[in-house]
Amino acid sequence: MIQLNSIIQLKGLSKSFGSQEVLKSVSLNIQKGDIYGLLGPSGSGKTTLIKLMIGLETPSTGSVTFKGNKLKANELYPSIGYMAQSDALYDELTAKENLSFMASLYGLKTAERKEQIEKVMTTVDLLDHLYKPVHQFSGGMKRRLSLAIALLHEPEVLFLDEPTVGIDPVLRKEIWDSFHRLKEEGRTLVITTHVMDEAERCDRLGLLSHGEIISSDTPDAIKETYGVTSIEDVFLKNGGVSIAD
Ligand SMILES: Nc1ncnc2c1ncn2[C@@H]1O[C@H](COP(=O)(O)OP(=O)(O)OP(=O)(O)O)[C@@H](O)[C@H]1O
Ligand SMILES: [Mg+2]
Repeated sequence: MIQLNSIIQLKGLSKSFGSQEVLKSVSLNIQKGDIYGLLGPSGSGKTTLIKLMIGLETPSTGSVTFKGNKLKANELYPSIGYMAQSDALYDELTAKENLSFMASLYGLKTAERKEQIEKVMTTVDLLDHLYKPVHQFSGGMKRRLSLAIALLHEPEVLFLDEPTVGIDPVLRKEIWDSFHRLKEEGRTLVITTHVMDEAERCDRLGLLSHGEIISSDTPDAIKETYGVTSIEDVFLKNGGVSIAD
């Protein structure tokens, strides 16, 4: 059954690479306007799950529904932003050239392009580095530039795979504030993280363990169900694997 507010629905989704079953019959609903966090130990299938949600991987079995319709990747791309776990940037180009290139792919008009580039680079606090070639960026700066690119066309749904890795705590908090602003605007965010305080700032969490969703609920409800005081303890109770790498 399609739920009223559901924007992404996964049903019995499995994925194998050769003989390795990476995801096992994952079913979940992501609600419109939520910040949905995917949590799980390294190798539990978070990146694979995100790739399946946006059609970068095809499921072995099961289905992905986007706004009530079967996922069609090419129709989906104008309404989503995707930030991959590894930065996909042109090192020899400046930040501005990287942004302009992506803006042209998204079909942004020249005036709109300039305005959006300034807006997203302000969000990630990189406006002073617009004309610097990317190979001169630090790891955290590259992460922030990737985030800026994902925000460029003001997508309805953002898929962010470990967006704050290598970013210092102060800026991380600012970036999370900007995630909450995006949510206030009605956007939906799907985010993977290993960081506990980030998990606590999500509306809902999907906990992945060995390719299975062991829980999908609000952080408070999950803690109550497992009788623990922190989300990390859920994993420690469930097989003793820590989610913090
Ligand atoms: N294209 C692929 N071919 C073969 N195996 C793959 C492929 N992509 C992922 N895997 C395997 O699937 C499993 C899950 O990988 P995935 O990248 O989804 O994990 P993850 O939860 O994102 O981990 P991390 O926290 O380290 O990013 C791993 O065992 C990985 O080796
Ligand atoms: Mg990953």
